[in-house]
Order: sequence, then C-alpha cells, then structure tokens
Amino acid sequence: MDNSMSHTLDELNTEDLLQGNAQVLHHFLSSLKSQSLRCACFLGIPAALHRLGGSATVAGLLDEIGLHPSKLPYLRRLMRALTVSGIFATAKQQYSPTMAEDATSIGETVYVLTPASRLLVGDRPSAAMSALLNPRPETGFAMFFKLEEWFRQDDGASGTLFKMAHGVTSPWDLAKEDSLYNRCLNEACVIDTSFVMDVALRGSGGDVFRGLTSLVDVGGGYGAAALAIAKAFPDVKCTVMDLEQVICEAPDDGLVQFVAGDMFEFVPPAQAALLKNVLDCWSDDDCVKILRQCKKAIPTRDAGGKVIIVNVAVGSGPNSIAVKEAQVLYDMYMMSIDGTEREEHEWRKIFLESGFSDYRIMPILGYQSIIEVFP
Ligand SMILES: C[S@@+](CC[C@H](N)C(=O)[O-])C[C@H]1O[C@@H](n2cnc3c(N)ncnc32)[C@H](O)[C@@H]1O
Repeated sequence: MDNSMSHTLDELNTEDLLQGNAQVLHHFLSSLKSQSLRCACFLGIPAALHRLGGSATVAGLLDEIGLHPSKLPYLRRLMRALTVSGIFATAKQQYSPTMAEDATSIGETVYVLTPASRLLVGDRPSAAMSALLNPRPETGFAMFFKLEEWFRQDDGASGTLFKMAHGVTSPWDLAKEDSLYNRCLNEACVIDTSFVMDVALRGSGGDVFRGLTSLVDVGGGYGAAALAIAKAFPDVKCTVMDLEQVICEAPDDGLVQFVAGDMFEFVPPAQAALLKNVLDCWSDDDCVKILRQCKKAIPTRDAGGKVIIVNVAVGSGPNSIAVKEAQVLYDMYMMSIDGTEREEHEWRKIFLESGFSDYRIMPILGYQSIIEVFP
C-alpha cells in the first residue's frame, strides 16, 4: 500500500472502514446473487415450494427436487443466501393435518415463497430470469467481463461491447444468424410482456388504451402486448410490426395482424403507436428517427393520435433501492448495445427533437413507466 493510500485510510474511523470493506466485498460477491438465483430456478426450487403448499424444510425440498442427501447442507446454504437477499423467506413449521412431511419437522425452519419467488414458479419464469436462463450465457452477462477492455479501446470506431463480444452490433443482427438465440430472445420478450401487460391492463395503465380504434405495436416481437390489448379491448384493431426474422416465426391466432418491416423506414398507420422496450435499445439519434416514423403513422392529438412508450424513466417509480438499482443496472446492461435507460430530461429532449409537443410519464409499472407522447 503506498503512503497516500494509508493516509486516506487513516482519515476514516474504524466503523466507516469496516462498513466500506463490507460494501466492497458485497459488490464483489453480487454476481453470486444472480448465479444462485439461476441455479435455484434450474433446480426448480420455486416450483417445488409451490407444489409443497408454499413452504418446506430443506430436507423436504431436497427430496422434492430429487437431489442426493449429501447435498443437504449445501442446499441449506443456497437457501440461506437467497433468503437474506429476499428471494425466499423463512418461518417455523406449524402443524397441519395436510402436512407433506412427518410431524417431527414441527418447529423447524421452513422456506417460503416471497412475491419475488412467486414470479419464478412454473416453467415460464419472470422477465429478468429469462435473460439469466438464456441457453447462451456468453450473450448475456459474460460479455461484461470485457467491459474494462472495451472502455480502454481508443479508436472510437470499435462499436459496442456486444460487437466486441460477438462480432455483430446488436442482438437483432445475431438473431438473424442464430435461430436458437432468435427464439430465446423473442420468447423472453413474450414472458416479460405478458407479465407487464397483465399488470398494466389491470390497473390505471389500461386507461391509456381505452377508446383507441387502432394501435400498431412497433418492434412488437411475437405480439404479446398487442394480443393482450386486443383481448382487453376488442374494438382496438391491433397490428404488430417487427423484423422479418421475428414475424415469420410469430404464432398467429388471428386476433392481431402481423407486418414485417423496418421501423426506421416505415411504421404502419394507426391511431396510436406502442413502443414497448424498444427505444432503450437505441441511441438518441436512432430514437429520433424511430419516433419521427411513428409521428408520420399517427393522426393529430385532436384525433386521438399518440405514441405509448413502456420503458424505464430513471428516477421515476417507487423509492426503493431495488427499483433504483434495477433502473441503473438495466442501463448498464443496455450500454452493451449502445442503448440507454433515460431520465425524464433525456426523454423530453428526444420527444421535442422528433417533433412531439407534450408528454406524460406515469410511473405505474414498478421500475418501468408508461409514457404517453402527443403530436
Ligand atoms: C427488446 S425487444 C421488445 C419486443 C416487444 N416490444 C416486447 O416488449 O415484448 C425489441 C424488438 O425490436 C425489434 N426490432 C429491432 N430492430 C427493428 C427494426 N429495425 N424494425 C422493427 N423492429 C425491430 C426486435 O426484433 C425486437 O423484437
């Protein structure tokens, strides 16, 4: 340690020093949170807890998921870590006539599902998990091991971190060449969108779509959002527009219309254009190009024309560490493809530059918001 550093440390009291040390270790070990969660999902722990009536001892869990008894102490440690981070909770085993385990477990610690792990029950885990469960981990977090190398590249023309890792600029370019990746990407979007639209349409978010006559879901993937809207509001004529490689695989049940195309060149006309998790994938300049195409596709504000964006508005939403960290870490993730999670002033700038006159941010989707943008 050089002298200047020991001098800096001398200025701190013991409590601050130890707290700082714990914080650094906590950050260093945080990747293990995702990996522990990934492991628990692949082992089927949330679903097993659900099958066991919502709670189980570690022994009951081990039995249910079919692990060798020698793994019991390790499973206990995995469950403890995921409980401290809020994925599971603990309680004491109570007597119940329908107990799956024998009565000797009464009073033992049982693990129970929390709102977070309830989202992971079943074979269609929540949105974020679908990224973690990606069968090609090298297309996910692994590329971030090269982040420092990417920062140090000084030619200004090297492109995105994604390009450095995969040789192509964006996930959509990779999806063109890799059909398994294409399917996983699109299915992950369906999982997220089905969940988010369900919540949105249940609450005040539904008002955003009420009264519309038509809507085009731009970059709409397999059409999960449009489908949810068409089911909730049968009078809204819904169209999904996406790249050819996506549209040609989209399951078509006749409720919505599918159109293949490039949103930088054309957006099919409708009263409203929906952009769900699209603009955060692009730079400001590209967003302006996309929004200008959307503006051409919709009528005036008096005729009900609007763009509806579902995305993060950094700084909006519940005031919790989980939400705040999810927003800025998501931004770091999007940085790998030159996308951005934007603060309100950054959204305003691109709306005005694209020729829109007004907007309204509704922070009603947890870490995400619905933003209405008016011509
Ligand atoms: C993150 S996904 C979001 C999908 C969908 N909106 C959702 O939330 O489920 C972004 C989508 O944009 C599509 N996309 C990318 N470039 C596009 C382009 N030039 N024109 C149309 N769609 C495009 C991708 O194929 C992908 O389906």
